[in-house]
Amino acid sequence: MLFFKKKTTPVPLEERLVPQNLGIIMDGNGRWARKRGLPRQAGHVTGAQTFRKITKYCERCGIRYLTVYAFSTENWKRPQEEVDAIMNLLHQYLRESLADFQKENIRVRFIGDRAPLAEDIRQLMEEAEESTAHKEGMTLNIALNYGGQQEITAAARRLAERVQAGEITPADVTEESLQQALYTEDQPPVDLILRPSGEYRLSNFLIWQSAYAEFVFMEDILWPDFKESDLERAFAEFARRNRRFGGV
Ligand code: IPE
Ligand code: IPE
Ligand code: MG
Repeated sequence: MLFFKKKTTPVPLEERLVPQNLGIIMDGNGRWARKRGLPRQAGHVTGAQTFRKITKYCERCGIRYLTVYAFSTENWKRPQEEVDAIMNLLHQYLRESLADFQKENIRVRFIGDRAPLAEDIRQLMEEAEESTAHKEGMTLNIALNYGGQQEITAAARRLAERVQAGEITPADVTEESLQQALYTEDQPPVDLILRPSGEYRLSNFLIWQSAYAEFVFMEDILWPDFKESDLERAFAEFARRNRRFGGV
C-alpha cells in the first residue's frame, strides 16, 4: 500500500505502464468545499468538471476500461439537500455530456441499481448508452447507486432464478457465470484502484472485480483538485508494482 505525501516526478508518457482497467473513487468533494468555506455541493460541481477532464485524459492514455464511483448505495444516507444537489448535477451533466461524448471515442455504461433513480435521469442514462454503444475506444462505467454487495447479491439472485426456471443446474453456478451476471459482465478484472482524499478503504466499490487490483491511495489531494499529472504519478507507482496473482 502506498500513499503520496510529496509529489513525485512524473514519468514520461512513453515509459508509463498504463493499466488496462482502472477504477477511481472520486472522493473529497465535500472537504474541498469546506476548506474554502463553501457548501459541500460546490465541491460536487468542481468534482464533476474534474471527472470530465480526467475521463478524456484516460482515453488518450490508452486505458481500455475506466470505472468511476459517482454515487454509492450508501450515499442516500446523506442530507436530502445534498442528495438532491448531486442528482441535479447528474441530470445537468448527462444532458451536456450527450453532446460531449459524441466527440470522444468513449462508450458509456452505467453500473448500479437504476430502479430508485428518477425517470428523467434513467432516460438520459439510456440515451447516453445508446448513442455511444458503437464507440470503439475506452469503455466508461459510471457507478451510480452502485454497491459491490448489491451487485453480487443481484447476480446471485439472477442465477438462482435461472436454476429455479430449469435453465441451469446448481453446478452451473461458477466463478465465470457469476462474473457474467455482474454489471461489468465480460470486462477484464480491475488492475488499479485510485482513491484521493486520504481514506484507505474501498467503500463497497468493485469488490469482486478488484480481487487482484493494485491500490494507490493519494492522501495529498482531494478529487476536485485532481490533475492529469496526478494520474501520471499513480501510473508511475502502478508500473513499479510486482503483480504475482498468487504465483511466484
Ligand atoms: C465524493 O466526495 C463524492 C460523492 C460521494 C458523491 P464526498 O462528498 O464524499 O467528499 P468528502 O469525502 O465528504 O470530502
Ligand atoms: C465513496 O465515497 C463513494 C463515492 C466516491 C461516490 P464516500 O465518501 O461515500 O465513502 P465513505 O463514506 O468515506 O466510506
Ligand atoms: Mg467521501
